[in-house]
Amino acid sequence: MEKNGETRVAIVPNSMKKLLKSGFEVVVEQGAGNSANHSDQEYTDAGATIADHETVMKCEIIISIRMVDIAELSEGQILACVADPFRHPEKVQACIDNKITLLSMDMIPRRLSRAQSMDVNSSQDNLAGYKAVLLGAAHVPKGIPMMTTSAGTIRPAKVVIMGSGVAGLQAIATAKRLGAVVYASDVRKTAAEQIESVGGRFIEVEGMDDFEDESGYAKPLTPEFIQKVNDTVCGVASDADIIVTTARIFGRPAPITVPASAVTNFKSGAVVVDMNADVGGNCELTKPGEITVTDNGVIIVGTSNLPGTLANSASMLYSNNLTTFITSLVDKENGFQISEDDDILVGAPEGNDFFVAGMGGVLICKDGEIHPKQTRLGGVL
Ligand SMILES: NC(=O)c1ccc[n+]([C@@H]2O[C@H](COP(=O)([O-])OP(=O)(O)OC[C@H]3O[C@@H](n4cnc5c(N)ncnc54)[C@H](O)[C@@H]3O)[C@@H](O)[C@H]2O)c1
Repeated sequence: MEKNGETRVAIVPNSMKKLLKSGFEVVVEQGAGNSANHSDQEYTDAGATIADHETVMKCEIIISIRMVDIAELSEGQILACVADPFRHPEKVQACIDNKITLLSMDMIPRRLSRAQSMDVNSSQDNLAGYKAVLLGAAHVPKGIPMMTTSAGTIRPAKVVIMGSGVAGLQAIATAKRLGAVVYASDVRKTAAEQIESVGGRFIEVEGMDDFEDESGYAKPLTPEFIQKVNDTVCGVASDADIIVTTARIFGRPAPITVPASAVTNFKSGAVVVDMNADVGGNCELTKPGEITVTDNGVIIVGTSNLPGTLANSASMLYSNNLTTFITSLVDKENGFQISEDDDILVGAPEGNDFFVAGMGGVLICKDGEIHPKQTRLGGVL
């Protein structure tokens, strides 16, 4: 098990074949896969070596889910993980100071088609969106699908999903499969069609502009428009049974989509599942890692690390993403390379359709320097 209660493991035994074939020797920390249902024996059977923490931390390349303790690494080592660099610039600075090469998987240029099989944001958010709906269904005091019985008819539950990116679309599809009537919001115009394609009803906000930036992410909204979106969407949610919030703005704190004042208008027994509880929360009343009940009977679920609650599936997808990524860095002639020509590492070149000003790729820093294309991140260090 990784530190800080992480249940996922970065590499599963099934990935071993591909890694070994690419020429890597794989060392797995003792017990690393236990909470994701993979024993040390499975890893050794697949060709890995099991070692203690200290030995693992001396390997040339460290693959983990989250950032490790940089003090345990030495100059020249490579770390591939989800570093969440905008929220943890001090950890990036520690990598720069200690001349660690940091490859942050959450910075992958997602719109490049080659990046899709390496996109940990998508693989983990997909599971989080699914699990958020299941948590809502588990806590709501009513059935989800329409049920006609001799004792009476239960009407289908009303579910509102706020934010319809990868997690939100999976949440819509999951709620729909359970039999709910699903409404969903977003601030990107392109989301409307996607919401409808998975069975949701798009919540229109009057005067809606398009808040999508050149990288496909949402742009920050003006305070007036935040108010308008929140009033409209929380109005639709006022008689909902389950509200799932998934809204994010890249590199910034999670936006508030459920102000405290809106919760007072929600139904008694309604459940708010805040997928962003760990990163500031979309609901003003969310307590990270806790399930709380308001005075008017609204249940707020702030469960941390939703992908980690599905550790087996989440580890398998993460491992596939990382294995595809790491093996893509192996050149037949030159072996493992951190190449300036690789768009996944450094972002698309200027002039390319996928170029994003101020953003590089997965490569955050190397040889004691932040990568020159990461000017946006450089601004927060
Ligand atoms: N391969 C690809 O091309 C690829 C891969 C993954 C994602 N994407 C795209 O990237 C975009 C972002 O996806 P994501 O899931 O990572 O986004 P995200 O996790 O950054 O944000 C989640 C959603 O919240 C929305 N949002 C932000 N503020 C909001 C608010 N106040 N109210 C309601 N919604 C709000 C965003 O627009 C987004 O859809 C999407 O267009 C997605 O389809 C593309």
